[in-house]
Amino acid sequence: MRDTPDASSSSSKGNSPQSDQQSPTATSRRALLEGAGSTVGTTAAVQALGSATADAADSAMTAPARTAIRLTVNGVSHSVEVEDRWTLVELLRDQLDLTGTKIGCDRSECGACTVLMNGQPVYACSQLAVWADGADVQTVEGLAHNGRLSPLQQAFIDHNAPQCGFCTPGQLMTATALLNTVPRPDAAQVQQALVGNLCRCSNYNAIVEAVVAAGAQQGGAV
Ligand code: FES
Ligand code: FES
Repeated sequence: MRDTPDASSSSSKGNSPQSDQQSPTATSRRALLEGAGSTVGTTAAVQALGSATADAADSAMTAPARTAIRLTVNGVSHSVEVEDRWTLVELLRDQLDLTGTKIGCDRSECGACTVLMNGQPVYACSQLAVWADGADVQTVEGLAHNGRLSPLQQAFIDHNAPQCGFCTPGQLMTATALLNTVPRPDAAQVQQALVGNLCRCSNYNAIVEAVVAAGAQQGGAV
């Protein structure tokens, strides 16, 4: 009986190490597999590089822009780097620890955040910090001197102007600006000046009385 090579014998031969070395077909398969492995490795490296590049691009796109500014707050000079999106009240409260300035509405409605910028009352929630570059800012912390309250602050106490007190820093700063320009305001002038400072305790009469009294006592020297 003739010994005829069949598929199984051919397969068995092809799986031997020796036949691998000799068979062009087997060599091609190894080369192919090695090549494929190399390709997979290269692809992974390219993907990793691409991912890192994308991450860098993403972070470059999402990192907020920053600007170095200089400003004077309550007589103290500050050089700070601020994010361009920060408001002045965020700079004051979160970076300079001047938390006397309050945030009520955070959208130009209540006046709780009022500070003086170059002598003018402004809503610090609606001023970008970068706009304060070079400015002279005064907050409620800058009213007292050598541990003594300003006459206006004392008048607020004497007339029970603060109730919960949340609006008080803003009221004081707006009233300070008024007394700096109108030394002895009457009640109508005070009401007009404080129209942008809301008091949720509705203690308006006492606030107006305090400002009028401070002007009458000090002649505007607040
Ligand atoms: S917090 Fe700025 S106006 Fe209300
Ligand atoms: S005292 Fe309470 S909001 Fe004015």
